[in-house]
Amino acid sequence: MRVAILGVGRLGAFHAKVLSETKDVDELRVYDADDARAKDVAATLRVRAAASIDEALAGVDTAVIVTPTNTHASLIKRCLDARIATFCEKPIAIGIPETRDIVAHVERARGKLQIGFQRRFDAGYLRARDDIRAGKIGDVFSFVMVSCDRLPPPDAYVATSGGQFKDQLIHDFDITRWLFGQEAVEVTATGSTLGFPQYEAMGDVGTSVVLIRLSGGSLGLITGLRHNEAGYDIHVEIHGAKDTLAIGVDPRTPWRSVEADAPALAGPPYPTFFVRFDGAYRAELAEFLRFARGEAANACTAADALEALRIAEAAGRSYRERRTVKLTEIT
Ligand SMILES: NC(=O)c1ccc[n+]([C@@H]2O[C@H](COP(=O)([O-])OP(=O)(O)OC[C@H]3O[C@@H](n4cnc5c(N)ncnc54)[C@H](O)[C@@H]3O)[C@@H](O)[C@H]2O)c1
Repeated sequence: MRVAILGVGRLGAFHAKVLSETKDVDELRVYDADDARAKDVAATLRVRAAASIDEALAGVDTAVIVTPTNTHASLIKRCLDARIATFCEKPIAIGIPETRDIVAHVERARGKLQIGFQRRFDAGYLRARDDIRAGKIGDVFSFVMVSCDRLPPPDAYVATSGGQFKDQLIHDFDITRWLFGQEAVEVTATGSTLGFPQYEAMGDVGTSVVLIRLSGGSLGLITGLRHNEAGYDIHVEIHGAKDTLAIGVDPRTPWRSVEADAPALAGPPYPTFFVRFDGAYRAELAEFLRFARGEAANACTAADALEALRIAEAAGRSYRERRTVKLTEIT
C-alpha cells in the first residue's frame, strides 16, 4: 500500500515512524509545509520527501493528515476527490458548518474517511466498553474523566487549535459516546486561565471542568488540564449499579481496574501522550489500513467527529455564557 503523510510536526512525525515500520506499507511519502522538516523526517525514516501536496498524493492509495486543525477540511476534500482513502487527526475542523460540510462530502464522494480518536483503540478503554456493554457493571450512574497534558503545547499551536474544549476535551467527549453508547443531552462548563494569562486574548482556558448529562441518565464530570507537572495523565472512574471500573489508574486501586492483570498498561502519570497511547496509535493506523483495503468497517466516522465537536461547542458556549447548554441548541 502506498501512503502519503501530510504534516510531520509533533504527532505527524510519530505517525510517520509507525507507518514506516508497518509491513503493509510499501511506499511512504512525507510532505510538510515546512520543507526542511519534511526532509529531516524523511531522511531519518529513509522514505521519500515530497516537494508538494500534488507530488505527495499522486498515485497513493491512502493519505494521513496530521496538519494543524484549520487546514484539515480542504486537505480532506482534496484527498477524497482523488479517490484516496483518508485518515485525519481530530478534530475535522473548528466550526460545526465546516464539519457538517465534510460529513456531506464523504457521502457525496462515497469516500473513505476515518478520524483520529485513538482512545477507541486503547486496551483499557476497549475492555471497559466490553464490560459496560455486556452489563457487567449494571446501569452507569456516574463517571469521572481526568485529562491532563504534562506540559501545554506551544502557544502557536493553542492559537489555531480551537481551544481546550475542541482540541483537548474533544477526546473525552468522543470516548464518552463510544464507551456508554449514549448521546450527550446537556453540558455545564467552566474554565480558568490561571497560570496561562496569555490564553485570555485567545478566548481560551488552560483548566476546565465540564458536567455532562447523557441520554440514558448517566452523569459525568470531566476535568481538563493543559499543565500537570506530575505528568500526562488520562484516567476514568465509572460507577455502576453492580460495580466500579477504572481505566488508566494504578492497578492497586481499591476499584476493579480494567488493567489490573496488565499493569504495564497502567501506572500514570506518563511523560507524553506518545507513551500513554503508543499501542493505541499503532492499532488505530493498522485499523485504518484495513479499512482502506475494505477489510474493516470505519472505526471512527466523520459523523462521530461531528457529534464530539457539537459537545465541545456546547461546552464552549456554556463557559462563555455561564449557563447550562442543551445539545439541541447546537444545530
Ligand atoms: N490524537 C491525538 O492524541 C493528537 C495529539 C496531538 C495533536 N493532534 C492533532 O494533530 C494535528 C497536528 O497536531 P501537532 O501537534 O502535530 O501540530 P504541529 O504544529 O506540531 O505539526 C503540524 C505540522 O503541519 C505542518 N503544516 C502546516 N500546514 C500544512 C499544510 N497545509 N500542509 C502540510 N503540512 C502543513 C507544519 O509545518 C507542522 O510541521 C492537530 O489537528 C491536532 O489536533 C492529535
